[in-house]
Amino acid sequence: MAQVTVKQLADEVGTPVDRLLTQLREAGVTVKGEESPITAADKAKLLAYLGGRSATTAETATAEPKKITLKRKSTSEIKLSAGRGTKAKTVSVEVRKKRTYVKRTEVAEPEEPEVEEAQTETTEPQEAPAVQPEVVAETAPAAAEEVQKTEEAVAPATEEKPSKKDEEQAPAKAAVEAPVKAPESETRRRVLENLERAKQGYRADEGRRERTERDGALHLAAGKHAKRKKKTKSHRGPVTVDTQHAFVAPTAPIVREVPVLEIQTVGELAQKMAVKAPEVIKALMKLGVMATINQSIDRDTATLVVEEMGHKSKQTDDSDVEAELLQGAVSTTEQAESKSRPPVVTIMGHVDHGKTSLLDYIRRTRVAEGESGGITQHIGAYHVTTPRGTITFLDTPGHAAFTKMRARGAQLTDIVVLVVAADDGVMPQTKEAIQHSRAANVPMVVAITKVDKHEANLDKVKNELLSEELVVEDFGGDVQCIGVSAHSGEGVDALLEKILLQAEVLELKAPVDVPAQGVVVESSLEKGRGPVITVLVKKGSLRLGDIVLAGPYFGRVRALFDDVGKSVKEVGPSIPAVVVGLNGTPDAGDEVIVLSDERKAREVAQFRESRLRDSKLAAQQSARLDLFAQMGEGQAVRELNIMLKTDVQGSAEALVEALTKLSTDEVKVKIVSTSVGGISESDVDLALASKAIIIGFNVRADSVARKAIQESKVDVRYYSIIYEVINDVKDGLSGLLGTETREQMVGLAQVRDVFRSSKFGSIAGCLVTEGQVRRGLPIRVLRDNVVIYEGELESLRRHKDDVNKVEAGTECGIGVKNYNDVKAGDQIECFERIQVKRTVA
Ligand code: GTP
Ligand code: MG
Repeated sequence: MAQVTVKQLADEVGTPVDRLLTQLREAGVTVKGEESPITAADKAKLLAYLGGRSATTAETATAEPKKITLKRKSTSEIKLSAGRGTKAKTVSVEVRKKRTYVKRTEVAEPEEPEVEEAQTETTEPQEAPAVQPEVVAETAPAAAEEVQKTEEAVAPATEEKPSKKDEEQAPAKAAVEAPVKAPESETRRRVLENLERAKQGYRADEGRRERTERDGALHLAAGKHAKRKKKTKSHRGPVTVDTQHAFVAPTAPIVREVPVLEIQTVGELAQKMAVKAPEVIKALMKLGVMATINQSIDRDTATLVVEEMGHKSKQTDDSDVEAELLQGAVSTTEQAESKSRPPVVTIMGHVDHGKTSLLDYIRRTRVAEGESGGITQHIGAYHVTTPRGTITFLDTPGHAAFTKMRARGAQLTDIVVLVVAADDGVMPQTKEAIQHSRAANVPMVVAITKVDKHEANLDKVKNELLSEELVVEDFGGDVQCIGVSAHSGEGVDALLEKILLQAEVLELKAPVDVPAQGVVVESSLEKGRGPVITVLVKKGSLRLGDIVLAGPYFGRVRALFDDVGKSVKEVGPSIPAVVVGLNGTPDAGDEVIVLSDERKAREVAQFRESRLRDSKLAAQQSARLDLFAQMGEGQAVRELNIMLKTDVQGSAEALVEALTKLSTDEVKVKIVSTSVGGISESDVDLALASKAIIIGFNVRADSVARKAIQESKVDVRYYSIIYEVINDVKDGLSGLLGTETREQMVGLAQVRDVFRSSKFGSIAGCLVTEGQVRRGLPIRVLRDNVVIYEGELESLRRHKDDVNKVEAGTECGIGVKNYNDVKAGDQIECFERIQVKRTVA
């Protein structure tokens, strides 16, 4: 270590060799070239020279800070034994260090001895040691400590060196330490520094702020950084306190345009007006409306409040809000190329006219046989490939209760096949189906079924259709008509032909390569799979992984099946598919769209859900008001609370409609809740709390719920056929109605003569003309068909004998209690009062 060459030294201190040579010469050391050796004495000389020179510079230093950059590089080798069998590896490690010091005009920091040491260690031959160095612009002690730590962290490899050098470089060290001991006070120095900074207009601080703005980290206060910077460079200026506040008092009241929806809660309205809810409540009170923050108010009330509070109201529909929310997330299908698609055909008609059987024949399936009660109770969607082309069929129920389903069937479809049984003719639901098709403006094809039956009469059916203003081809009209049999298969091919012909006329087209749009045909809840939704795709293609929004629910398509349960990856237009992955069971008929953005889907779903909740609350409110009104009229309304659990959404809808229709003025069916899926424990709890009976339609209670049912004695009834539910609920309502007393005439007697008896007073000698007269029953005395007395029968005699009853055609003597004014020609009516159970019509 004592002998190093100039070149080595230059390398070590990171100075160009030439420069070092010049410096050495200037210091009075004779060196020949870069290979000539340098002794420790030479080094000391050099240091002394440099120290002296720098000290002079320090004295004459300008106000500009002067930078010193120290670079250091050390190389070492580490031997790694790389485990058994392999050779040991040698890794060379190169450590590079660079540090910049800035010389201050002021006397240096006393708390930075480590920096001095660092200086000494490096044996920097240039301007280094004489000046009191300082870490760039950092005066805070904390930062100084940081520097120390950094130094310690990187230094250990070189630690030996300085200890050896310490002695040699003693003079240099002394020189360095000299200014440290200068009697300049710390506080004074800081004050001066701060003043200096203030003068410079907080240049650093400003710069930092600009940077923050440029980086866009607006959530951070000025002077804060999103990322922590390297401490050695950090430049924490004094805290700047902006005494000028940013608030500007409004000069005029702010008039907002407030969107007013059909229904909204008070809280929502307040939020839109940017006022506190109590203020809206106050305004409502002024209008005479008492409402709480969560209560829903209708459009008219909301408009009044908005105007009252000085804002402008804007009539908005839910769809407007949704459209705004959905902006950009729904792809427009207009530009997409349309391709021809299969027709969607809905089969409609009266119950049991053979709709499902006909479809079964076409599909070669046996759906009808497995149906409970032999009736269809939800819409089925089937995709059929016939030799003549592909058709999607929707099978609708014919039972009266499923009006809505039929209406929906008509709306979803391109063609309606009106099924009329040849042996039964046009029936109420046939007529209804005709109306639905007309309302939806869908062409009809008539299929007269069961032509194999011997009582089949096609002409009669066609005539009946005529009276519904439906003129079939044979009668000169434009409605195609064909007789078919699901048993023999007669006419089925011709029917398909006619359907496809009709479809051709319609020129059905839809874009294929766009995100799907469709309609919920049916939805249910399945154990293990969650909500399962049958969707009829109308446009585009529905694919696995798509983000789907359906009514108030959304989700990613996790699994996709076709109508026979086969897993598929994609379905195109007019094809029914079963979707798994949504977070709830939407209503049948709800629109289905594929969105590009899950967040948007969630937002819209939540918006719709809150709308639903609001309208539900509003409905409850008005129902309560109705109840109060009725109570005010002195009418006691009895309610039958029902909780509905069904297998599919469509059945729930049909049941709600059918059951609420049973309500009368005196007894009401109140559907406490409806939902899809099995009966759970919470359902039982809710039923118990709302004193409701549970109707399980094609669903059962799970084991926990069964236990709860046993314990709580909640009335749970299971059904699988809609008319049985309706009949039972009707009975239930009748039970609530109780009984009434009715009078029933038992007999009638004609008064022939009146006798006087000392014992019984006046006795009417009568002939019983109708029924019988019995003792103990109440009677009425009629004269010219007008009741003149109502009382009791006191004595009934025949030929001086007391009897209990006298049949028609026989004579008798009747004594009327407390009444002596009976005359010949009067009629005595004998009747009884009976209790009759009242029933719901
Ligand atoms: P809903 O869906 O409940 O409205 O009934 P539907 O119209 O689907 O009738 P479905 O197919 O269930 O048939 C009702 C009954 O009619 C069944 O007993 C069938 O066997 C019978 N049926 C249906 N088509 C024919 C037919 O072409 N000929 C004969 N003889 N019987 C038929
Ligand atoms: Mg059916």
